[in-house]
Amino acid sequence: MEVLNLLNRRYATKKFDTNRKIAETEVALLKDAVNLSPTSYGLQLYRLLVIADKDTKEKLKPLCWNQQQIEECSHLFVFCSFKTYEEKFVDDYIELMSKTHRVELNTVKGYGDFIKKKIAEKDKYELQSWMEKQTYLAASNLMLACAELGIDSCPMEGFDAPDVDAFLQLHEKNLTATVMVATGYRHPADDTQYAPKVRIGAEQLFIRV
Ligand SMILES: Cc1cc2nc3c(=O)[nH]c(=O)nc-3n(C[C@H](O)[C@H](O)[C@H](O)COP(=O)(O)O)c2cc1C
Repeated sequence: MEVLNLLNRRYATKKFDTNRKIAETEVALLKDAVNLSPTSYGLQLYRLLVIADKDTKEKLKPLCWNQQQIEECSHLFVFCSFKTYEEKFVDDYIELMSKTHRVELNTVKGYGDFIKKKIAEKDKYELQSWMEKQTYLAASNLMLACAELGIDSCPMEGFDAPDVDAFLQLHEKNLTATVMVATGYRHPADDTQYAPKVRIGAEQLFIRV
């Protein structure tokens, strides 16, 4: 099964080859893969920064536990979720849905009201956590798309979000960094690529009721 080959090929790359950069045409494909990711209700309550600039990556490294992937990768995808929710997000989405499906706004308004009602049941902390969770599925799609294109990646949570937010001026946009994916090409000297995957057995992973 091809997808299993891709999933086996993918590994959390520790050392990227700094001489190899991802072509912009492929970066565009990766962006499409992120945009096609599923999100709760379809709201897409996150935004991304894609950082290829050497100086910015160098400055980010100390804010990311000094992990070398930050500066050695070709493109760093920074997933940012909104810090606070506004009903306007739903209004904008419903308007986009009406335009995209070419239907009158009032035919989809009920769906918007339903979404608003369900979201209103969440408290402030549940809301923030729910918005953050959305980014992880998109990060996963990005890594699978990378694998298909022969591009390597590393999902990264090892960073100090308040410092990263301040450096990237995310507060002003009501955003906070939740997860990053460093992308590029594995260095032959990255030993982790040769190690077998450490995984529990299926009988342990898939439990019975
Ligand atoms: C949400 C998340 C955050 C992670 N953060 C880091 C990180 O900051 N640095 C790193 O080197 N690896 C990070 N990893 C990689 C994991 O350690 C790795 O996926 C795991 O050990 C399994 O190895 P494999 O991905 O190579 O199969 C992260 C993985 C996930 C899913």
